[in-house]
Amino acid sequence: MNDFLAVAREAALKAGGILRDNLHGAREINFKGDINLVTEMDVRSERAVVETLLAAFPGHGVLAEEGTRIRNDSGFTWIIDPLDGTTNYAHGYPCFSVSLALEHKDEVILGVVYDPMRDELFTASKNQGACLNGKQIKVSGIETLIKSLLATGFPYDRKVHEDNNLDNFRDLLMASQEVRRDGSAALDLCYVAMGRFDGFWELKLKPWDVAAGSLIVCEAGGLVSTLSGGKSSIHDSEILASNGRIHTQMIEVLRNTRDSR
Ligand code: IPD
Ligand code: CA
Ligand code: CA
Repeated sequence: MNDFLAVAREAALKAGGILRDNLHGAREINFKGDINLVTEMDVRSERAVVETLLAAFPGHGVLAEEGTRIRNDSGFTWIIDPLDGTTNYAHGYPCFSVSLALEHKDEVILGVVYDPMRDELFTASKNQGACLNGKQIKVSGIETLIKSLLATGFPYDRKVHEDNNLDNFRDLLMASQEVRRDGSAALDLCYVAMGRFDGFWELKLKPWDVAAGSLIVCEAGGLVSTLSGGKSSIHDSEILASNGRIHTQMIEVLRNTRDSR
């Protein structure tokens, strides 16, 4: 496990360094949809991560957002978001991350999320706790939703589909202290893990958005589920993560929102 972590760390730092060094440079932007964009830096970051991981573990599989897919029988798959927070990145808003997770036989066993602007490296290995820059982290001790700082995000297809999270946002905004929309789901999860946020929910996410962050939350003592409290998988599109203490309160608000549709 230590080898996996050391190489994942090296890959995340290398890719994060490339992103940081080029934040204010000119770059090519392409559009996957009218508001879903991809910059040449997403692709460069993915190349750096994949090259580093495969140099150390040439037999492993890869599932990466910008298109690298390697399937094999090793039982190990690296799940990679080379730049989580592309819209922020394209605007020079310094909130984005590199997210890497290692899945072994359908279970995430390692997660690494790196924020190159704050030089914050979040790591977790299954059953071994979670760390920020090598120091153990824990979720917050906040007990009530009204005292909680939450985070969420909105899907790229929000203009054409009704399940765009706006009703959940309205109701949880009213029931909590505040809700942030920071633009990097992987970092949102890490902030739950270390207590900057008390809870996070989002719809229509992909495995690379949540694989690393979900393990980091669980290893920091938090809870991760579906929006209705069911057992979650990184292959589900919805996620609710919290410090555990406010989980049922969030589920209740989300249930009332759903019932009133
Ligand atoms: C996005 C970010 C954002 C979330 C979006 C994601 P990307 O990832 O995590 O916070 O709200 O749903 O798709 O596109 O920047 O890698
Ligand atoms: Ca992402
Ligand atoms: Ca991305």
